[in-house]
Amino acid sequence: MQIILRQTGECIIRRAELSDIIPVMEINLKTLPEHYSDYFYESLLAELPEAFLVAEIGGKHVGYVMCKTEYGFSNFKKLGFVKKGHVVSISVLDEHRRKGIGTALVEESLIGVKSRKCDELYLEVRCSNNEAVKLYEKMRFFIKQRLKTYYRDGEDAYLMAIEFNY
Ligand code: ACO
Ligand code: ZN
Repeated sequence: MQIILRQTGECIIRRAELSDIIPVMEINLKTLPEHYSDYFYESLLAELPEAFLVAEIGGKHVGYVMCKTEYGFSNFKKLGFVKKGHVVSISVLDEHRRKGIGTALVEESLIGVKSRKCDELYLEVRCSNNEAVKLYEKMRFFIKQRLKTYYRDGEDAYLMAIEFNY
């Protein structure tokens, strides 16, 4: 049964299912230089279905977000190991950008990650990716670090994170 989280105008945000993985991989291939194996998508869906979401318009996939959970040192001031959500990848098809779909995907994944009692949600983003950095800043993520030559082509990443206070 499909779990619909929100409907804004013609766009539906819902939890992904196994049959969504191929269309999600297609969006990823079209829009981002970082690609993953089908097994990796499946494992993220199995691990954190609350934050593996797709956006659909008229039955066509137009965007996705997928996350994982990890334990590690806080990007904020908490001591010791904390539970962290990690946005592995998010994307919206070019022709559907600037309609609030990216915002809706991040908002719903924040809810999904919080349902797992994470202390924070973090991600890496290319320093040149202004659209994405703006989106995350609008969602109150902070730039916490610059990761030198993080990407295979040598570009730096910003590590951005948002802390949860329950
Ligand atoms: N110029 C300036 N600001 C922008 C732009 C732009 N072209 N696009 C988005 N923004 C900012 C704005 O602040 C915007 O808010 P506003 O419209 O109220 O001004 C805010 O982002 C949110 O815009 P949305 O419409 O909600 O976002 P959209 O649906 O366009 O998706 C996304 C944003 C996901 C970054 C999209 O541009 C995209 O898919 N890019 C290619 C893939 C990508 O770079 N993904 C992120 C990689 S990092 C990672 O995956 C962890
Ligand atoms: Zn990452």
